[in-house]
Amino acid sequence: MNCDIKDSKLASVGADRVNWAKQQMSVLNMIAEGFEERKPLDGLRIGACLHVTTETANLMTTLKSGGADVALCASNPLSTQDDVAASLVINDGIPVFARKGENREEYYSHVNAVLDTQPHITLDDGADLVSVLHSERQGQIPALMGGTEETTTGVIRLRSMEKGGVLAYPIIAVNDAQTKHLFDNRYGTGQSVIDGILRATNMLMAGANFVVCGFGWCGKGVAIRAKGLGANVIVTEVDPLRALEAVMEGYRVMPMEEAAGIGNVFVTTTGDRDVIGSKHFGLINDGAILANAGHFDVEIDVSALRQMSVSQRYVRPYVEQYIMPDERRINLLADGRLVNLSSAEGHPASVMDLSFSNQALSVEYIAQRHADLGNQVYAVPDDIDTEVARLKLNVMGIRIDVLTDEQAEYLSSWQTGT
Ligand code: NAI
Repeated sequence: MNCDIKDSKLASVGADRVNWAKQQMSVLNMIAEGFEERKPLDGLRIGACLHVTTETANLMTTLKSGGADVALCASNPLSTQDDVAASLVINDGIPVFARKGENREEYYSHVNAVLDTQPHITLDDGADLVSVLHSERQGQIPALMGGTEETTTGVIRLRSMEKGGVLAYPIIAVNDAQTKHLFDNRYGTGQSVIDGILRATNMLMAGANFVVCGFGWCGKGVAIRAKGLGANVIVTEVDPLRALEAVMEGYRVMPMEEAAGIGNVFVTTTGDRDVIGSKHFGLINDGAILANAGHFDVEIDVSALRQMSVSQRYVRPYVEQYIMPDERRINLLADGRLVNLSSAEGHPASVMDLSFSNQALSVEYIAQRHADLGNQVYAVPDDIDTEVARLKLNVMGIRIDVLTDEQAEYLSSWQTGT
């Protein structure tokens, strides 16, 4: 099989970890059972560019159960779990092109290797497959039925393509499902970013001044978990509504230039570039820790930090220490890439169960309905979103109330007033 992985001998370790995740992905398992019976993806080729984690492995085998031929590459050079890549190749016969720590050239050769399998459906986390298809491989586009997008930054890129009139096949924005961003971005990122920082540094959170840049879904999650561990949370924002929300949650809100001199830890969660940059590095305290949780490694201006520093060296795995001219030490985690996926394992499987159930059902929807779809970015259909929430509650053993006929009628009427 054509593939590129680090070490096939890691396959059995990977299989144990994939199975561990599977035990916490009950909704996806139910979907896989249905796929196994119905084979809704029979004869389809699916190309995926996702973080190569235990949870992604379970999504890949689910799609394969549905009858699809699947190929996978990484959506970030540092997020690949090499044992998972090996397990998918050796135990599941799924071609994987991903090695943890691959350089930019290898990264794109892997993206192209997946596109060489001539997919009918693409799965992206950050829109790199879509972007390469539109810029370098337009000839393949007529064969595409549709694609899905997992993250906020990818959806922003795709909406900009749609607006510019260049998007050439339909995409379902899985990120925008309620059962995705409300849970994965908030609780998943919240927990796993703290996990990544702690694994990399073993620092004490209690009492630390912890600056969260961006108070969107990811930022809210990081802030609440840092607060729970006793940190003093400071938020920076550019959006007045979100800044106000952070104030009402009890966080201090201030511009980055002010926060720079106060923080002990900084986490960027904005999807924006240069959020911490040259005008801040001169102000940051000795020993401060910088980490990024946004999709691309542009949120902390690492090249400016390198230029302004006099030396750099790794002092622990995933911790590169920059020595500034006045001897201050600034510690950058995971090279400014997604800290939760680089120095920890990414989101817990239970939360990815929601996101990847949306992915699997959206892929089935594309397979069934692609002829009705235009070259647009679509929301996940409401019935899929609600069904994922319903199934998750079921597997958690939680029952909820049901509207009576009178309540349903009342809630859809306007006649009854005071
Ligand atoms: P969001 O759009 O809900 O939040 C982003 C927030 O950052 C907004 O409130 C925006 O006003 C703010 N912002 C933008 N520029 C800023 C600046 N210069 N300074 C301060 N605040 C600024 O987006 P969401 O869903 O929270 O995603 C954020 C990033 O995280 C995206 O790149 C997304 O793809 C990524 N992501 C990462 C995950 C991970 O596992 N690490 C999981 C999910 C999303």
